[in-house]
Amino acid sequence: MKVFVTGGAGYIGSVCVEELLDAGHAVTVFDNLSEGHRSAVDARASFVLGDLGDRELVGRAVAEAQAEAVIHFAAHALVGESMQNPGKYFRNNVAHGLNLLEAAVTAKVGKFVFSSTCATYGVPEKMPMDESLPQRPVNPYGESKLMFEKMLQWYQQIHGLEFVAFRYFNAAGASRKFGEHHRIETHLIPNVLKVALGQKDRCDIFGTDYPTPDGTCIRDYIHIVDLAQAHILALAPGQAGFFNLGNGSGYSVREVIQTCERISGRAIQTVEQPRRPGDPPRLVAAADKALKQLGWQPKFPQLEDIVATAWDWHLRHPDGYRD
Ligand code: UFG
Repeated sequence: MKVFVTGGAGYIGSVCVEELLDAGHAVTVFDNLSEGHRSAVDARASFVLGDLGDRELVGRAVAEAQAEAVIHFAAHALVGESMQNPGKYFRNNVAHGLNLLEAAVTAKVGKFVFSSTCATYGVPEKMPMDESLPQRPVNPYGESKLMFEKMLQWYQQIHGLEFVAFRYFNAAGASRKFGEHHRIETHLIPNVLKVALGQKDRCDIFGTDYPTPDGTCIRDYIHIVDLAQAHILALAPGQAGFFNLGNGSGYSVREVIQTCERISGRAIQTVEQPRRPGDPPRLVAAADKALKQLGWQPKFPQLEDIVATAWDWHLRHPDGYRD
């Protein structure tokens, strides 16, 4: 299938592009390289440098790629930043995303796969979280993704656009080739591994007074190769709807740090900080729907394995991508 991938130079996108190509699909990557890296784009893919805000260019690029499916990763995705600069999130994730949606309808694309997030649920009433929970985001990032989910539903109803929206829990780990390199790193696992590599003195623990057993936030970490595989399954005709992607196991910030210490064999110095605004205490997925309906089978459900692949990549790329 001819697949048009926005954000294919980014962390999750780069690995999905690699898996799509391995599965025999033809891929065009569209990315403005604001967060992504040119060298994170698999050499077998075509590359278009462009911004989703450029409506005409987006339309032309989707048409020229003769896209049969669009996978839309490109977005700003930091909870903390969205609490300081909400406009950046609504502009890029909603308004610019709309240009892509319209381009997909005009080009009669058969399938639209969207990267949504468990941050659309806000602070959930029930754990683990299934897809039927009410969506009440507690940060502009989650709100911007929920707005796009709603646009997808209207475009399906009015234009017949078939879509799959994945609500990711916490993406982590690396493939052999591609891993996590954000220019400003805010995520837990890469920050802890920077301490293990000697690139940072200590790692912050944001909030130690949450209503959890050790007082730190609990998250469900999911390997990016497993995330990528779900996207490939979503391309099958007839697959549609909203799916959580997580492993169903929650780990606290302290447990993640301990796992990184075990895997790297290095001590991690930490410093306790106040809570980070916008962080829900606990997010753990019930992903039964993806397991049953898509036939999704995560290969790396254990946190140890997820951290081990991340550590292996960071050891081989201590400075990340060089561009
Ligand atoms: N944390 C620390 N120290 C750090 C970094 C993070 O204690 O140096 C804590 C955070 O406060 C949070 C947890 O570790 O409690 C995980 O934080 P991340 O920044 O790694 O991930 P988030 O859960 O905030 O967000 C990520 C993605 C979002 C996605 C979300 C789903 O960035 O795009 O997972 O849970 F929506």
